[in-house]
Amino acid sequence: MEFQKVLEERRSVRSFKNEPVSKETVDQVLKAAQLAPSWKNSQTGRYYAVLSDDMLNKVRESCLPSFNAKNSANAALIVTGFVKDDAGFGADGPVNDMGNMWGAYDLGLQNENLCLKARELGLDTLIMGIRDESALKNILDIPDNVQVAAVIALGYRNTEPKMPLRKELSEVVKYY
Ligand SMILES: Cc1cc2nc3c(=O)[nH]c(=O)nc-3n(C[C@H](O)[C@H](O)[C@H](O)COP(=O)(O)O)c2cc1C
Repeated sequence: MEFQKVLEERRSVRSFKNEPVSKETVDQVLKAAQLAPSWKNSQTGRYYAVLSDDMLNKVRESCLPSFNAKNSANAALIVTGFVKDDAGFGADGPVNDMGNMWGAYDLGLQNENLCLKARELGLDTLIMGIRDESALKNILDIPDNVQVAAVIALGYRNTEPKMPLRKELSEVVKYY
Protein backbone atom coordinates (compact mmCIF):
# COMPACT_ATOMS: atom_id res chain seq x y z
CA MET A 1 0.00 0.00 0.00
CA GLU A 2 1.26 3.49 -0.84
CA PHE A 3 2.71 5.19 2.24
CA GLN A 4 0.49 8.28 1.99
CA LYS A 5 -2.58 6.02 1.84
CA VAL A 6 -1.44 4.16 4.96
CA LEU A 7 -1.02 7.48 6.77
CA GLU A 8 -4.46 8.71 5.72
CA GLU A 9 -6.30 5.43 6.33
CA ARG A 10 -4.96 4.81 9.84
CA ARG A 11 -7.78 5.57 12.24
CA SER A 12 -8.58 4.88 15.85
CA VAL A 13 -11.07 2.06 15.39
CA ARG A 14 -13.64 1.36 18.12
CA SER A 15 -15.42 -1.68 16.67
CA PHE A 16 -13.59 -4.84 15.60
CA LYS A 17 -14.75 -7.97 13.75
CA ASN A 18 -14.85 -11.30 15.56
CA GLU A 19 -11.75 -12.46 13.70
CA PRO A 20 -8.70 -13.69 15.63
CA VAL A 21 -5.34 -11.98 15.16
CA SER A 22 -2.53 -14.49 14.67
CA LYS A 23 0.76 -14.44 16.57
CA GLU A 24 2.53 -14.12 13.19
CA THR A 25 0.65 -10.90 12.49
CA VAL A 26 1.46 -9.56 15.95
CA ASP A 27 5.13 -10.43 15.34
CA GLN A 28 5.03 -8.47 12.07
CA VAL A 29 3.70 -5.29 13.68
CA LEU A 30 6.14 -5.62 16.58
CA LYS A 31 9.06 -6.01 14.16
CA ALA A 32 7.92 -2.79 12.46
CA ALA A 33 7.88 -1.13 15.88
CA GLN A 34 11.46 -2.23 16.45
CA LEU A 35 12.62 -0.40 13.32
CA ALA A 36 11.95 2.97 14.97
CA PRO A 37 14.85 5.17 16.08
CA SER A 38 15.60 5.41 19.80
CA TRP A 39 17.86 7.37 22.15
CA LYS A 40 21.41 6.01 21.53
CA ASN A 41 19.67 2.93 20.10
CA SER A 42 18.73 2.04 23.67
CA GLN A 43 15.50 0.30 22.53
CA THR A 44 13.75 0.60 25.86
CA GLY A 45 10.25 -0.09 24.52
CA ARG A 46 8.61 -3.24 25.94
CA TYR A 47 5.55 -5.15 24.68
CA TYR A 48 3.21 -7.59 26.43
CA ALA A 49 0.99 -9.18 23.81
CA VAL A 50 -2.29 -10.64 25.05
CA LEU A 51 -3.83 -13.11 22.58
CA SER A 52 -5.60 -15.88 24.51
CA ASP A 53 -9.33 -15.47 25.24
CA ASP A 54 -8.80 -16.17 28.92
CA MET A 55 -6.16 -13.45 29.37
CA LEU A 56 -7.99 -11.02 27.09
CA ASN A 57 -11.09 -11.30 29.28
CA LYS A 58 -9.02 -10.77 32.43
CA VAL A 59 -7.25 -7.69 31.04
CA ARG A 60 -10.47 -6.16 29.67
CA GLU A 61 -12.38 -6.72 32.89
CA SER A 62 -9.69 -5.68 35.36
CA CYS A 63 -7.46 -3.18 33.59
CA LEU A 64 -9.64 -1.13 31.22
CA PRO A 65 -12.55 1.22 31.88
CA SER A 66 -15.81 -0.15 30.47
CA PHE A 67 -15.82 2.07 27.35
CA ASN A 68 -12.31 0.96 26.33
CA ALA A 69 -13.12 -2.67 27.18
CA LYS A 70 -16.23 -2.52 25.00
CA ASN A 71 -14.56 -0.68 22.11
CA SER A 72 -11.64 -3.14 22.02
CA ALA A 73 -13.83 -6.28 22.06
CA ASN A 74 -12.61 -8.96 19.59
CA ALA A 75 -9.18 -7.32 19.25
CA ALA A 76 -5.84 -8.56 20.56
CA LEU A 77 -4.34 -6.29 23.22
CA ILE A 78 -0.74 -5.14 23.17
CA VAL A 79 0.36 -3.52 26.40
CA THR A 80 3.20 -1.11 25.73
CA GLY A 81 5.76 0.33 28.10
CA PHE A 82 9.37 1.38 28.46
CA VAL A 83 12.26 0.71 30.84
CA LYS A 84 12.55 3.69 33.16
CA ASP A 85 15.72 5.69 33.84
CA ASP A 86 17.52 4.44 30.72
CA ALA A 87 16.77 6.43 27.51
CA GLY A 88 17.94 10.00 28.17
CA PHE A 89 19.99 8.98 31.21
CA GLY A 90 23.75 8.83 31.75
CA ALA A 91 25.88 7.66 34.68
CA ASP A 92 24.96 10.85 36.59
CA GLY A 93 21.24 10.70 35.96
CA PRO A 94 19.03 12.47 33.40
CA VAL A 95 21.04 14.07 30.59
CA ASN A 96 18.62 16.99 30.26
CA ASP A 97 15.26 18.42 31.24
CA MET A 98 13.27 15.65 29.51
CA GLY A 99 14.29 12.81 31.85
CA ASN A 100 12.01 9.80 31.38
CA MET A 101 10.03 11.63 28.72
CA TRP A 102 12.69 10.41 26.26
CA GLY A 103 11.66 6.84 27.03
CA ALA A 104 8.04 7.80 26.37
CA TYR A 105 9.12 9.62 23.20
CA ASP A 106 10.91 6.54 21.86
CA LEU A 107 7.95 4.31 22.69
CA GLY A 108 5.66 6.71 20.84
CA LEU A 109 7.85 6.45 17.74
CA GLN A 110 7.70 2.66 17.97
CA ASN A 111 3.97 2.61 18.55
CA GLU A 112 3.23 4.75 15.51
CA ASN A 113 5.27 2.31 13.40
CA LEU A 114 3.15 -0.48 14.90
CA CYS A 115 -0.12 1.27 14.05
CA LEU A 116 0.95 2.10 10.50
CA LYS A 117 2.21 -1.44 9.83
CA ALA A 118 -1.11 -2.79 11.12
CA ARG A 119 -2.98 -0.62 8.60
CA GLU A 120 -0.68 -1.75 5.79
CA LEU A 121 -1.52 -5.37 6.68
CA GLY A 122 -5.26 -4.62 6.65
CA LEU A 123 -5.69 -4.37 10.43
CA ASP A 124 -6.49 -1.47 12.69
CA THR A 125 -5.61 -0.20 16.13
CA LEU A 126 -6.93 1.74 19.09
CA ILE A 127 -4.36 3.34 21.38
CA MET A 128 -5.81 3.39 24.90
CA GLY A 129 -4.11 5.66 27.42
CA ILE A 130 -6.94 5.25 29.93
CA ARG A 131 -6.01 2.00 31.69
CA ASP A 132 -5.08 0.77 35.15
CA GLU A 133 -1.30 0.46 35.34
CA SER A 134 -1.10 -1.43 38.62
CA ALA A 135 -3.72 -3.97 37.53
CA LEU A 136 -1.83 -4.54 34.25
CA LYS A 137 1.48 -4.98 36.12
CA ASN A 138 -0.14 -7.44 38.46
CA ILE A 139 -1.94 -9.61 35.90
CA LEU A 140 0.88 -9.63 33.32
CA ASP A 141 3.75 -9.72 35.81
CA ILE A 142 5.38 -6.61 34.37
CA PRO A 143 8.62 -5.64 36.18
CA ASP A 144 8.72 -2.58 38.47
CA ASN A 145 11.31 -0.83 36.31
CA VAL A 146 8.91 -0.72 33.35
CA GLN A 147 6.57 2.26 32.97
CA VAL A 148 3.35 1.04 31.38
CA ALA A 149 2.04 3.47 28.75
CA ALA A 150 -0.79 2.69 26.31
CA VAL A 151 -2.65 -0.53 25.69
CA ILE A 152 -3.10 -0.93 21.93
CA ALA A 153 -6.04 -2.92 20.58
CA LEU A 154 -5.19 -4.68 17.30
CA GLY A 155 -7.83 -6.25 15.09
CA TYR A 156 -9.95 -6.12 11.95
CA ARG A 157 -12.17 -3.05 11.57
CA ASN A 158 -15.92 -3.42 11.63
CA THR A 159 -16.57 0.24 10.93
CA GLU A 160 -15.34 3.03 8.64
CA PRO A 161 -14.57 5.92 11.00
CA LYS A 162 -14.13 9.46 9.64
CA MET A 163 -10.90 11.29 10.32
CA PRO A 164 -11.31 13.75 13.22
CA LEU A 165 -10.43 17.24 11.97
CA ARG A 166 -6.82 18.28 12.11
CA LYS A 167 -5.71 21.81 13.03
CA GLU A 168 -4.50 24.15 10.32
CA LEU A 169 -0.73 23.97 9.86
CA SER A 170 -0.56 27.68 10.72
CA GLU A 171 -1.94 26.92 14.22
CA VAL A 172 0.83 24.49 15.09
CA VAL A 173 3.84 25.58 13.03
CA LYS A 174 5.97 28.70 13.13
CA TYR A 175 8.41 29.34 10.29
CA TYR A 176 11.54 31.48 10.67
C1 LIG B 1 -1.69 8.69 23.87
C2 LIG B 1 -3.09 8.41 23.36
C3 LIG B 1 -4.05 7.94 24.24
C4 LIG B 1 -5.34 7.64 23.76
N1 LIG B 1 -6.25 7.07 24.63
C5 LIG B 1 -7.48 6.70 24.15
C6 LIG B 1 -8.39 6.01 25.00
O1 LIG B 1 -8.11 5.67 26.15
N2 LIG B 1 -9.59 5.66 24.46
C7 LIG B 1 -9.95 5.98 23.17
O2 LIG B 1 -11.06 5.63 22.75
N3 LIG B 1 -9.09 6.64 22.35
C8 LIG B 1 -7.86 7.00 22.80
N4 LIG B 1 -6.95 7.59 21.94
C9 LIG B 1 -7.32 7.84 20.52
C10 LIG B 1 -7.49 9.32 20.18
O3 LIG B 1 -8.73 9.76 20.70
C11 LIG B 1 -7.41 9.49 18.66
O4 LIG B 1 -6.11 9.15 18.24
C12 LIG B 1 -7.72 10.91 18.18
O5 LIG B 1 -9.06 11.25 18.45
C13 LIG B 1 -7.47 11.10 16.67
O6 LIG B 1 -8.22 10.14 15.91
P1 LIG B 1 -7.48 9.16 14.88
O7 LIG B 1 -6.56 8.28 15.69
O8 LIG B 1 -8.58 8.37 14.21
O9 LIG B 1 -6.72 9.98 13.90
C14 LIG B 1 -5.67 7.88 22.40
C15 LIG B 1 -4.68 8.36 21.53
C16 LIG B 1 -3.41 8.59 21.99
C17 LIG B 1 -2.34 9.04 21.01
